[in-house]
Amino acid sequence: MSTSEQANQLYVPSDATVKAAHVSGMEAYRKLCEEAEADYEGYWARLAKEFVTWKQPFTKVLNDSNAPFFKWFEDGLLNVSYNCLDRNVEQGRGDKVAIIFESDDGQVTRVTYRELLEKTCRMANGLRELGVKKGDRVVIYMPMSVEGVVAMQACARIGATHSVVFGGFSAQSLRDRIQDAGAVLVITADEQMRGGKQLPLKAIVDEALGMGGCDTVRNVLVYRRTGGNIAWNARDVWLHEVLAKQATTCEPEWVDAEHPLFLLYTSGSTGKPKGVQHSSGGYLLQAALSTKWTFDLKPEDVFWCTADIGWVTGHTYIAYGPLANGATQIVFEGVPTWPDAGRFWKMIQQHKVTIFYTAPTAIRSLIKAAEANPATHPRNYDLSSLRILGSVGEPINPAAWEWYYRNVGGSRCPIVDTWWQTETGAHMITPLPGATPLVPGSCTLPFPGIMAAVVDETGADVPNGQGGVLVIKKPWPSMIRTIWGDPERFKKSYYPADFQGRYYLAGDGAVRDANTGYFTITGRIDDVLNVSGHRMGTMEIESALVSCTELVAEAAVVGRPDETTGEAICAFVVLKRPRPTGEEAKKIADELRAWVAKEIGPIAKPKDIRFGDNLPKTRSGKIMRRLLRSIARGEQITQDTSTLENPAILEQLAQSN
Ligand code: PRX
Repeated sequence: MSTSEQANQLYVPSDATVKAAHVSGMEAYRKLCEEAEADYEGYWARLAKEFVTWKQPFTKVLNDSNAPFFKWFEDGLLNVSYNCLDRNVEQGRGDKVAIIFESDDGQVTRVTYRELLEKTCRMANGLRELGVKKGDRVVIYMPMSVEGVVAMQACARIGATHSVVFGGFSAQSLRDRIQDAGAVLVITADEQMRGGKQLPLKAIVDEALGMGGCDTVRNVLVYRRTGGNIAWNARDVWLHEVLAKQATTCEPEWVDAEHPLFLLYTSGSTGKPKGVQHSSGGYLLQAALSTKWTFDLKPEDVFWCTADIGWVTGHTYIAYGPLANGATQIVFEGVPTWPDAGRFWKMIQQHKVTIFYTAPTAIRSLIKAAEANPATHPRNYDLSSLRILGSVGEPINPAAWEWYYRNVGGSRCPIVDTWWQTETGAHMITPLPGATPLVPGSCTLPFPGIMAAVVDETGADVPNGQGGVLVIKKPWPSMIRTIWGDPERFKKSYYPADFQGRYYLAGDGAVRDANTGYFTITGRIDDVLNVSGHRMGTMEIESALVSCTELVAEAAVVGRPDETTGEAICAFVVLKRPRPTGEEAKKIADELRAWVAKEIGPIAKPKDIRFGDNLPKTRSGKIMRRLLRSIARGEQITQDTSTLENPAILEQLAQSN
């Protein structure tokens, strides 16, 4: 079967799935969409009352008087941690397991809602003892752990704004984020365990703080995970010592709906990562709502989102959404390929996981691993507990979709291919499992109430079947509120003048199917790459390369398609010394990869590094990236090169692989 034939195949949900679903059938889906069309604010207000418990109810729904700085439910008071924890205990779910934690080496710990509430209260009291107050920023640089989730919940409880930094980021990246956020506290662990290895965390925090510029940080709170050797400074505090003194209850800080729950840094098209600021009320509403509808979550489900809490997926679909629904979920410390590539399947079997949410890159690498070692193929495991599968972070190619559907889902579980972003806070375009017929490779239709559209550069709708730019026409409750400390950049990036500031510009291209109206995401339209579902700016990597001033004169970074990681990073580098070849080129390329790992993190290491005497430039000195993209893909250059100053360089770069 060809890819295009596969992509046209429709998978219709079974009658039983439809009947039991929260959103039951396309009729119900359409009704919700119509409700939102007819009375947009009324629709969201209804759901905000149903899904969020308010200390003081809101009377205003949407305030668009200072667009695009929209406010939702602004006079409502709530506490996010109350909604995720106390509410479940009060409603009789105190003894229900909230988190099944599996460590890297396979040890399993279960934490009930009552225990999670107590842990959160103790940590929240500890934070208060350390002087953390409402509105303060707290950076969390933690491994996947119960304590990581508790740290986020504890910040929410006292109204502190957390900013989680993925444990794979370097000291430099961590420092930039601590500094930009003006954090008063960093919560970390001595070390983290991944794939049987002990990796430093606290040492990286020390290095980051040692770089200077982080004077706002008063303390570093350290969770003892491995007991490994670490340096100790006057500002350091052991988490267990602080917790030992704390009460197991803690009055929540009631905050208004717009209070910033968290900042999460993500890459844009310029060098500096941006601190995406999220709200409390609107964010919680859509985290809770989408977890319930997109995954058709039921009380007896065992939910597993394999993301790290350092990414937005781990915020919405680990730290907040499942807990707000009183669900039982898995939190996994390790990696999918250790001790072998059957780890995910083994865990699904052991914990009887019913809903499994992962990234296409993980699927593709596990397909490869199963081909290399058939013992790790999902068919060797009992995966009959599974009911619903999800995909997130990057386009899922139809071949990977089919494999996932057949081999993991036993041709019985719908796959929800969820399109969304750090900025959107929750799913925006996604199938609903008991309603939407599926097409491999398409994220299908907007979540009810989300006004997604494909438009041209002027903002005019393009007909179905024609590609264009993906926009959201109306503000939604869980949307980004601003870029921390840079409201102008927020406006310019997401509400540009091209569309008269009317529409949210997602930064992705999309096309809607001529017959079904289904959306397919065609990839980023800016200088952002998506490598293994991780978002990275080309400029960010270029800045890192040229900061190696001893070696590098100039660098340009582009993406090229990669079978496993979706996209791969390809760097073209001009050195301050003659162009290296052979072994020398390999050696310098390795040095530069290590440099980028140190500057940003290992996820940003270029896969290909090519050296040239120069880069292809126009007469005015502009680098012609589209030519570099063709070279990176190994394509013949068919584009117009008449404006190129130095055409001979193309041949040299093409040969330099
Ligand atoms: O390009 C889209 C891609 O990931 C980008 C958002 O990245 P990030 O903010 O890191 O959030 C990732 C997790 C939500 C989008 O602009 N993307 C995300 N989900 C999909 C996707 N591309 C295609 N299909 C998806 N389901």
